[in-house]
Amino acid sequence: MSTTIQELIEQVSRSELLRFVTAGSVDDGKSTLIGRLLHDAKAIYEDHLASLDHDSRKAGRNEIDFALLTDGLKAEREQGITIDVAYRHFSTPRRRFIIADTPGHEQYTRNMATGASTADLALILIDARNGVTTQSKRHAFIASLFGIPHMVVAVNKMDLVGWSQNIFEAIRDEFGQFCTKLRIGDLEFIPISALKGDNVVHRSKNMPWYQGPLLLTHLETIHIASDQNLIDFRFPVQYVLRPHAGFRGYTGVVVSGVIRVGEEVVVLPSSRLTRIARIIRGFEDVEYAFPPQSVTLCVADNLDISRGDMIAHPANVPWVARDIEAMLIWLDEEPLRPDKHYLVKHTTSLVRGRFTDVMYKIDPNTLHRQETHVLTLNEIGRVSMHLFRPIMCDEYARNRYTGAFIVIDPVTNFTVACGMIIDRAHQYMNPTVGWQVALREGQITAEDRAMVLGQKPVTIWMTGLSGSGKSTIAYAMERKLLSDGRACFVLDGDVVRQGLNKDLGFCAKDRSENIRRVAEVARLMNEAGLIVIVSLISPFRADRKNARSIIGDDRFIEVFVDTPIEKCEERDPKGLYAKARQGIIPEFTGVSSPYEEPENPDLRIDTTHLSVEDCVELLLRLLQERRVLD
Ligand code: ADX
Repeated sequence: MSTTIQELIEQVSRSELLRFVTAGSVDDGKSTLIGRLLHDAKAIYEDHLASLDHDSRKAGRNEIDFALLTDGLKAEREQGITIDVAYRHFSTPRRRFIIADTPGHEQYTRNMATGASTADLALILIDARNGVTTQSKRHAFIASLFGIPHMVVAVNKMDLVGWSQNIFEAIRDEFGQFCTKLRIGDLEFIPISALKGDNVVHRSKNMPWYQGPLLLTHLETIHIASDQNLIDFRFPVQYVLRPHAGFRGYTGVVVSGVIRVGEEVVVLPSSRLTRIARIIRGFEDVEYAFPPQSVTLCVADNLDISRGDMIAHPANVPWVARDIEAMLIWLDEEPLRPDKHYLVKHTTSLVRGRFTDVMYKIDPNTLHRQETHVLTLNEIGRVSMHLFRPIMCDEYARNRYTGAFIVIDPVTNFTVACGMIIDRAHQYMNPTVGWQVALREGQITAEDRAMVLGQKPVTIWMTGLSGSGKSTIAYAMERKLLSDGRACFVLDGDVVRQGLNKDLGFCAKDRSENIRRVAEVARLMNEAGLIVIVSLISPFRADRKNARSIIGDDRFIEVFVDTPIEKCEERDPKGLYAKARQGIIPEFTGVSSPYEEPENPDLRIDTTHLSVEDCVELLLRLLQERRVLD
């Protein structure tokens, strides 16, 4: 029996958890409000209260100072501002809550960004005495950028403005007007006094003119279950589980959509189709899975699926993009640099990339666009990026998981920005601002080309008997590298001998010349930035040594496909061994001409017991060790 979406939504709501982020300026009373909320909702522990009471007395106050509860670290208390995101969990009989308490000070946009990316609701505090400030607008703008679906504006310190209805309404009108320009699902204004407790958990006697919801009631009842995206199934593969040869599963989080056993799926970026054979949750097989469940998926076919791949429904796929446009919040002291390579962390993959343009930045106060070519700390702007490998992504407005990414400085390892994808971009360089890669003067070097391609050019030289599996592995490796966005090319003996080397036969001298020419071509291709995979018997050590010296020691990777001759002969894919045994083909390697094994290859592969996929995996690992890829 299939489960309807409605039933699923109900299941999701039953385990409902509301994540909210609080934002306000330093003196808006945010900490006091959270303290009040926890206290009046009886959501804090007794021992917390006792120590709070003690701290408050020490600080010379008579009332309990709720700010001490939420201000966290001692050093922060001394500074009088909160400086980090603190996650607090509490629950009432109706709902569980996680508060990401983020500081209000302008330079701490970063922290708001951290808390906001997963929040269901933004709670913005406005001090009734000060009215709407740049800060409040900034917070609303960031909340809308992050697509937080619900917003509550708590107009605080109503006690200090004589519980004035006019003041509350003026703030509501002004801020409401500002918010019409933003993308905000729903907006609620509540007049409160966090210090006195009015309209937080208990209805205020001082503001009889307000009949709307109390803050806690609102938080407890706001409808969030349908905020989940249950339409677009997306499963970024986090780990490949292979405890033993008989089992292979792909572990990850269903970030959106619903998946059922038996459904057809597509694996991206390879675009291979298969079916879901099993869904395992914990230790149990289940029929379906939905967000945000962590599950292991097993598929019907033996496909090459690795970390960073995305599983989706064939009729509803994400973009597979190497060029993206995004809104970016810059979080680092060092401004964005066009000539620099950054790392982009998107779902479960890490990709190298660089900025190709900054179109504009946005003044959070007026929401006006300003022309700029750079973003500095806390600035928000629209950029385009080029990635060296495609990512499987969606528009952020449609999917908050596959639409979001962070940018990391590969040298310092700092998160320097977070971004929300707006669109795929056509590869585009803004010609007016010097956004081209900063190449040195003079002739273009191999390093310049390698930098543009984001890979280190090498030649994987595969040597071994005819029928050992060299070409099969070479082409499988090429397919894998290309599908990962790498530029590579196979130089195969059989192919080269039909064109470039069609004047050559199989005597030792001709073989040497064959190898020399292929090595020269590989060297040129490496100069052009390509990863080259050579598949030649290359039976003589001296010839391989010569190839190494032509290509260069640091670029030459020798792989010995060491399949025993009996096995090669048994396979005999072209019927050549049979002919060689009959003497029809002379000087046949392994039969009537020698094969000199490499003494010290970088990798030795025996294909007798390894699958093609396993061999590709070994080669990939080797490239990773050599830091050829990213
Ligand atoms: S190499 O020795 O010069 O490196 P290369 O790899 O280019 O050889 O070509 C090998 C291919 O040529 C084999 O896969 C086979 O299909 C074909 N071939 C034809 N005659 C011979 C021979 N006498 N020895 C080896 N391979 C041969």
